[in-house]
Amino acid sequence: MIKSKLEQVGIFNDNLNKVKPSPIHSFDEKVSDIPNILKLTIGEPDFSVPQHIKDAALAAISADDSHYSVSAGKKTLRQAASDFLNDRYGLDYDPAEEIITTVGATEGLYTLLAAILNPDDKILIPTPAYPVYAEMTRINGGHPVFIDVSEDKFVLTPDHLREIIATEDHIKAIIITNPSNPTGVTYTAEQLKDLADVVRETNILIISDEIYSELSYDAPHVSMASILPEQTIVINGVSKSHAMTGYRIGILAGPAALMKKINMVHGFVIMTPSNPAMAAATEAFKSAESKDDTLWMKEQYKKRRDYLVEKMTKLGFEMATPSGAFYMFAKIPVDLNQNDVEFAYDLVDRQQLAVVPGSGFGPGGAGYVRISYAASLDMLETAMNRLESYCEEKRTVKIL
Ligand SMILES: Cc1ncc(COP(=O)(O)O)c(C=O)c1O
Repeated sequence: MIKSKLEQVGIFNDNLNKVKPSPIHSFDEKVSDIPNILKLTIGEPDFSVPQHIKDAALAAISADDSHYSVSAGKKTLRQAASDFLNDRYGLDYDPAEEIITTVGATEGLYTLLAAILNPDDKILIPTPAYPVYAEMTRINGGHPVFIDVSEDKFVLTPDHLREIIATEDHIKAIIITNPSNPTGVTYTAEQLKDLADVVRETNILIISDEIYSELSYDAPHVSMASILPEQTIVINGVSKSHAMTGYRIGILAGPAALMKKINMVHGFVIMTPSNPAMAAATEAFKSAESKDDTLWMKEQYKKRRDYLVEKMTKLGFEMATPSGAFYMFAKIPVDLNQNDVEFAYDLVDRQQLAVVPGSGFGPGGAGYVRISYAASLDMLETAMNRLESYCEEKRTVKIL
């Protein structure tokens, strides 16, 4: 192991002093080596990438598609992404100037924040939220402002937003996750319109993270960009819709003038995305076959969701209806330990079942656990049997 004095002499960016590791990954790593552990922790589709999509990546490799592309990504991919956004959500983006191909939604988010944040700038984050938002904001010198929406069925209301806008200065943007990680809640067109009416009166940018847009179970997905395109940048990609997390292809779509600057930052950060991955994502976005692949996956997730809602409700857990993504954010029943971190570790100790403590997702998350149902029905059945045994044991112990 090489020892370096540099860590001690302040070599790092001071912003890092405020940054914490991802609570999801920290918890997952801590429990991963426990024998017989069953993990419903990470949001990772358990399906294989469809063969025709793999074939597209292989064809690019065989054709020696091995040189730098352009930073915004190949034209064919941007055209396919533009058509996809138009076909599914009625959005209208010029592939030449309004779409950038990113290294997963993650790099898109990072690049976007790096491009817009000045010191003192604030990013509004309705919570419970995907923890990455706050940490990326801090790395880039900004300040996250959390808006606890747990009292409003996990949906940001226009009144709540108005209240925050009236009290905070230097607000640069708000991040709306629709469908939501960790709650699985989705926004209706009406709810989005009401929020857009508030934002329209301001100079605030809406960062609309729609990476789970294809996994909306109870109603068609509505994109914020169909309502307020001039103040919205959409984040999307193929990671969740096509089970392609490891290919690392995402997209940013927004007004040309904004995308130009963002693309400049993006080019310095990544140069260009990977060609075989772009070939695969092009196939995923454009082929009719891949629309069916996603519909099939969505059907499987829906069955799992329905199964979990029924079982967990019987065990006394309450949750906002998880109508999208593949997460359930469940309130720990009052007769069990209300400290979500202790609860989660105790569940691991006694039943080797891992679910993520809700407090890691920010204000409003304490007392909840997040369960990912990107796992087979067999796994979910075993998980529910373990959870049932845990509840029985704990409840018996309490009565005695
Ligand atoms: C809300 C949200 N946004 C973005 C991402 C990252 O997506 P990608 O794998 O495309 O970087 C995730 C992954 O879990 C997520 O839950």
